[in-house]
Amino acid sequence: MVSVQDVREAVQGNPGEVVVVRGSVIDVRFPGRIPLIHTRLTAPDSSGVQVEVLAHLDHETVRGIALTPTQGLARGSVLIDTGEPFTVPTGNCLLGRMLNVFGETIDGRGNAECGEKRPVHRRPPPLRELETSSEILETGIKVIDVLSPLERGGKTGLFGGAGVGKTVLITEMIHNMVRVHEGVSIFCGIGERCREAEELYREMEKSGVLAKTVMILSQMNEPPGARFLVGHAALTIA
Ligand SMILES: Nc1ncnc2c1ncn2[C@@H]1O[C@H](COP(=O)(O)OP(=O)(O)O)[C@@H](O)[C@H]1O
Ligand SMILES: [Mg+2]
Repeated sequence: MVSVQDVREAVQGNPGEVVVVRGSVIDVRFPGRIPLIHTRLTAPDSSGVQVEVLAHLDHETVRGIALTPTQGLARGSVLIDTGEPFTVPTGNCLLGRMLNVFGETIDGRGNAECGEKRPVHRRPPPLRELETSSEILETGIKVIDVLSPLERGGKTGLFGGAGVGKTVLITEMIHNMVRVHEGVSIFCGIGERCREAEELYREMEKSGVLAKTVMILSQMNEPPGARFLVGHAALTIA
């Protein structure tokens, strides 16, 4: 196993030593300099482990959540402080693409190396830049527009058991946004079954709205850390 000392000599970085691995929750000690909250830590080897720092436990130990499986990671393993947060690509080139939490394309159609890469944690826009008037967003679905209209720029929740039609309704709204409002849609799937996104992707392709949609997914087979961060990644793209 490589030690912190070996790695310090090999890389120009800030290596830390894993002190606790509790499933996806990793504590790492950085004797040199403690990484900031929301910093990305990576493994120096090919294991591909990526951790986001979420708390400072003491003056040299951080607690983070892994976005990847942590098999093989043990006490004494080395993680490098990259000094930067997780970022995702942004821009129009993502339209029609399907991404994972790291902003990598997973639709088998090549890379989407484009646009500005933005950190997934950002300050909210200042209050004075927000629109204060409220306006109805017409969805074109009569029962929603009449009984429970949506606010433009607002948030709406849709709750229901499995198989009652939530995804079908969302697909219909994506369709109307593209066709009627000439807008774009971002679909973020968190903890869904793999086949659900696959079906949605094919359905959107068939109805011709895929070119105006971005899908970003972290599904039920992915670690909790990835599912935790994918919503932030989707908002950043939005
Ligand atoms: N408005 C509807 N009219 C007829 N069938 C529907 C309607 N909405 C949903 N369904 C049927 O129910 C199934 C499950 O819907 P879905 O939206 O996938 O459920 P979930 O709420 O779990 O996302 C769909 O495959 C479709 O066959
Ligand atoms: Mg569904």
